[in-house]
Amino acid sequence: MTSAAVVCTELLLRNFRNFEELRLELPPAGAAIIGDNGSGKTNLVEAVYYLEIFRSFRGAPDEQLVRFGEDVFFIRGRFRDATGRETEVAAAYEPRTRTKRVTLDGNEPARLSDALGLLGAVVFSPSDVQIVAGGPGERRRFLDIVLSLNVPGYVTALQRYRHVLRQRNAMLRAEVSGAVLEAFDEGLVQAGARLVVDRARWVAEHASRFSELFREIGDDGSATLRYHSDAAHAGAATEAEAATALRERLARVAPRERERGVTLAGPHRDDLGLIMAAGEHGVDLRQYGSGGQQRTGAIALRLVEADTILAARGRRPLVLLDDVFAELDPGRSRRIIRLFREGGHGQVALTAPKDTDVELGPRAGAPWSGPAAAGLPRPETGVAEVARWRIAHGRIGA
Ligand SMILES: Nc1ncnc2c1ncn2[C@@H]1O[C@H](COP(=O)(O)OP(=O)(O)O)[C@@H](O)[C@H]1O
Ligand SMILES: [Mg+2]
Repeated sequence: MTSAAVVCTELLLRNFRNFEELRLELPPAGAAIIGDNGSGKTNLVEAVYYLEIFRSFRGAPDEQLVRFGEDVFFIRGRFRDATGRETEVAAAYEPRTRTKRVTLDGNEPARLSDALGLLGAVVFSPSDVQIVAGGPGERRRFLDIVLSLNVPGYVTALQRYRHVLRQRNAMLRAEVSGAVLEAFDEGLVQAGARLVVDRARWVAEHASRFSELFREIGDDGSATLRYHSDAAHAGAATEAEAATALRERLARVAPRERERGVTLAGPHRDDLGLIMAAGEHGVDLRQYGSGGQQRTGAIALRLVEADTILAARGRRPLVLLDDVFAELDPGRSRRIIRLFREGGHGQVALTAPKDTDVELGPRAGAPWSGPAAAGLPRPETGVAEVARWRIAHGRIGA
């Protein structure tokens, strides 16, 4: 089953990373891009996903994305939805003037945030393991991106929260009076309560699916998601309750904040707990999980992200798999592929260092074969075949 999906039909890159000029026409089923290290595979994934979030999924600053020695990069994609409607999304950045220009069908949106999440895409990358193994900031970043793209109003609350937090921290550093500081508290509490409620709701809605996926992929142990927050531990379910809890926390930490000169309560200190069952107890996957279990956790989170896109936008995401199978043992790879196949999916673009690392769907002229067919459409569904391309030095050929 492949319900409503958005597909990328055409991609154009100019002076993006190691691509001087690249034009691709993508089949609806997707493409496998095979190439050595350093050939530009991740750069290509980065470019496609740039049109979803208008920044690098690797966290690279925009100026790094401009091809060495050039002045500006340009990315343009054409996307077709299930009704056949086409949208053109383009982005350009010029470091010298620090201008980023985003257009939708040639028009600049009123705010950049209006153009966020237009494609509905998910990137799977080996660096995702950092979401599990890294510090709380990595997990907050994951939550913030997923919620910004899928929950209306979240990104606005997040921007407001960060703005007030910066101001409040500056006031604390300047050792202003309590009355001046209080002027910032309510803004922090209001925006913060919205973040807390949306995060708590997302975790509550997806925790059991996460557990299910973790079990299915990993076959060694079970795990669940838990939201840790200053304002949610009391079971705050509404914004008003979260605001009350946050106000109380702020009052409690006030003396320490004065000493330290920094805001010590609020959703900028939240964490998304990944808790693994160990006998009677739950232990942190971050501290106690094996490498394989941590990778399983990361992939389960990305699959939950794909579910979130489907639930929020009613369509299957464009799936970008950057070098993921090379890192996984065959059992895990096979089970992930089965999940893709069972769940249905949109277009898939997959990168790998070697042809043999991925058993792909039908090649032109070749019969459907192999147990690990990457979950790509079977020939009998009548869906176009998956393109198979080689990449070297920022150039793509058959
Ligand atoms: N701004 C840039 N201009 C030109 N080349 C770049 C730029 N940024 C990265 N590169 C080059 O891109 C290559 C890495 O590409 P990447 O997509 O990460 O490779 P891989 O195929 O291993 O995923 C390196 O050779 C690097 O020098
Ligand atoms: Mg790479």
